[in-house]
Amino acid sequence: MRCRTCGAPAAINMRQHKLALCRAHYVDWIPEQTERAIEHYRMFTRGEKLLVAVSGGKDSLALWDVLHRLGYGADGIYIDLGIDAGIGYSAKSRALCEQFASARGLQLQVVSVPGAYGSSIPDVAKQSVRGRRKPCSVCGLVKRHIMNRVCREQGYAALATGHNLDDEAAVLLHNAMTWSGGYLVRQAPVLAATRPGLARKVKPFCRIYERETAAYTLMQKIEYIYDECPYATGSSTLYYKELLNRMEEDRPGAKLQFYLAFLQAKDQGLFAPGASGESELHDCPQCGQPTSAPGKCAFCRLWENIPPVAPSPGLGPEKEPGDAGEETS
Ligand code: AMP
Ligand code: FES
Ligand code: ZN
Ligand code: ZN
Repeated sequence: MRCRTCGAPAAINMRQHKLALCRAHYVDWIPEQTERAIEHYRMFTRGEKLLVAVSGGKDSLALWDVLHRLGYGADGIYIDLGIDAGIGYSAKSRALCEQFASARGLQLQVVSVPGAYGSSIPDVAKQSVRGRRKPCSVCGLVKRHIMNRVCREQGYAALATGHNLDDEAAVLLHNAMTWSGGYLVRQAPVLAATRPGLARKVKPFCRIYERETAAYTLMQKIEYIYDECPYATGSSTLYYKELLNRMEEDRPGAKLQFYLAFLQAKDQGLFAPGASGESELHDCPQCGQPTSAPGKCAFCRLWENIPPVAPSPGLGPEKEPGDAGEETS
């Protein structure tokens, strides 16, 4: 197999694009594809300051690398969830993010959940209402909350996450199985800041396969954490990813087609105007941020069940944004 551009031996063959490339051309192809998505979906412009949410995993570190190489001004945020799970998961991923940032002279801010709120995510999950919340659901809520708040308070134009095509297609399949209209209508490469208090959210890798981000990090020699979140085993997202991979095996490009056809159908009026339920948002009476929950937002309610601790100055739950319900993955 030869590189389509230069004829050298190919480092990767992408059946879904009928394209094989050598290392040098592949590591330029990914930024080109990302730039196209940024422009196509009007995510942000070069003059805007971005906040990239980095987990220490391959997708978000690859995204930060690509944005940096493309010349976008992007600072990073890492949220330390206090997960150990016998492998020092959070400590390891934090160190990888710090190492990535300092090697490139990039700004990274770390928000520690145990440091700011007094409890790690697994502890909060154990102590949450009837102890029935799974760590990943608490984690999602807390991460969205902190990311939104930091982005908005520090004047960033948009929050970029490393969600890739496999993530998006899996969430789409999951929500389509239950026809969760509210989630489906809000699943998009860009979520505009439709209300004060909501950050614009963008997913520049939404058309890039997970295999492609993995290959990019490898070829760019970016060190990332290989372990999945220890609590994610058996999650429905992983299940739907496996199903989609089986389809992709038989029909290369199936995943991309599924996602893009959905976006197109949405553009063509698949959903009635107002189907997003956004009009139902109100400001949380405790933290003042938009929420769809009746009364206080889910984030503020979460901490009510946790024994009180003195939060670090500036990051107490009382000022956090609500679970605006705007995220779908
Ligand atoms: P996940 O929900 O773990 O699939 O992650 C989706 C995206 O959320 C990642 O690509 C990151 O952009 C962001 N993210 C996940 N975990 C963290 C974290 N601990 N700190 C900052 N950003 C994160
Ligand atoms: Fe954070 Fe699982 S606990 S993703
Ligand atoms: Zn080449
Ligand atoms: Zn609140």
